[in-house]
Amino acid sequence: MVNSKHWSIKHADLSDRASISALLSTARWQHQHFDWVSVLDLLSESPFLIALDRDLVVGCLACPPDPPRVAWLRIFSIAADYSPAYIWDQLWPDAVAQISANHVKQAAALLSGDWFAPILKGFGFEHTNDVIFLEHRGEAPPTPLLPLGTVRTMLPKDIEAVIELDQSAFQDIWQYSPETLRQAYKHAAIATIIEHNDEPLGYQISTASIYGAHLARLAVTPQWQGRGFGKALVVDVINRFFHQGVLKVSVNTQTDNEQSLRIYRKLGFRDTGSRHPVYQLQLDG
Ligand SMILES: CC(C)(COP(=O)(O)OP(=O)(O)OC[C@H]1O[C@@H](n2cnc3c(N)ncnc32)[C@H](O)[C@@H]1OP(=O)(O)O)[C@@H](O)C(=O)NCCC(=O)NCCS
Repeated sequence: MVNSKHWSIKHADLSDRASISALLSTARWQHQHFDWVSVLDLLSESPFLIALDRDLVVGCLACPPDPPRVAWLRIFSIAADYSPAYIWDQLWPDAVAQISANHVKQAAALLSGDWFAPILKGFGFEHTNDVIFLEHRGEAPPTPLLPLGTVRTMLPKDIEAVIELDQSAFQDIWQYSPETLRQAYKHAAIATIIEHNDEPLGYQISTASIYGAHLARLAVTPQWQGRGFGKALVVDVINRFFHQGVLKVSVNTQTDNEQSLRIYRKLGFRDTGSRHPVYQLQLDG
């Protein structure tokens, strides 16, 4: 591992775009959040810090708060031959000082590999949950449920109501900011809402790629939960994809999210074995 005397740290700006892009494509160690925007789109946000060895960008760390009181670790990338623990030591104190000053209540990370966990634990992060992936591969789609409400395509005019609905349904670190929800809607292959007497009670947003579809967001307004609206949205979207010829639909949820797991398992979603630990750190902010 390189131990250079020529370290410096700075806040990244748009002029660092090419160097960061080069680091991202060659990094030996990289933690990247499941995000709706690309890492380079975070450059105008803060904290986005880079570690330099002379003029060479050898590490970067970004955790801009979103939602406002939560700083997810969105990227932590380290060049080959540099130590992740050492680069973390250089970058994290500045990052945490900045988010704490902005009244962020907690930092969080959704891990994809084992290498990062010991570093996070050394800085007080705790393993609080796991996110698992499930998959539905239907020979035939589930039978549509008797309509409890009407499922229809989400329209741009619905977005404000959906933002409100989403914020009432999700707690804590799982909330989306309005901007993130707009990004999710922009990337949707199928976005639907379920309504009753013209009131939106739930919604889902799904994406599609060559690998299949992914149900990315599902929520029902708390007063209306437990009455089958969530399940109706999932059944409907599987049917919509099936009729487009998309037979594989994946989803992810937390292992302690019993309501959603019950829906997915009952509808024939099977665990893929993919499991991503969630680490959280409470801050004083
Ligand atoms: C997950 C969510 C969308 C489910 O919507 P919903 O309309 O409440 O769900 P449904 O009524 O269609 O079905 C829920 C199932 O869970 C069961 N359920 C309800 N509350 C439960 C609880 N506390 N524990 C276990 N099961 C529960 C219901 O009985 C039903 O099962 P059944 O069909 O066997 O009777 C909703 O709870 C929600 O918005 N949660 C917060 C956001 C969230 O976590 N989204 C999912 C992210 S993947």
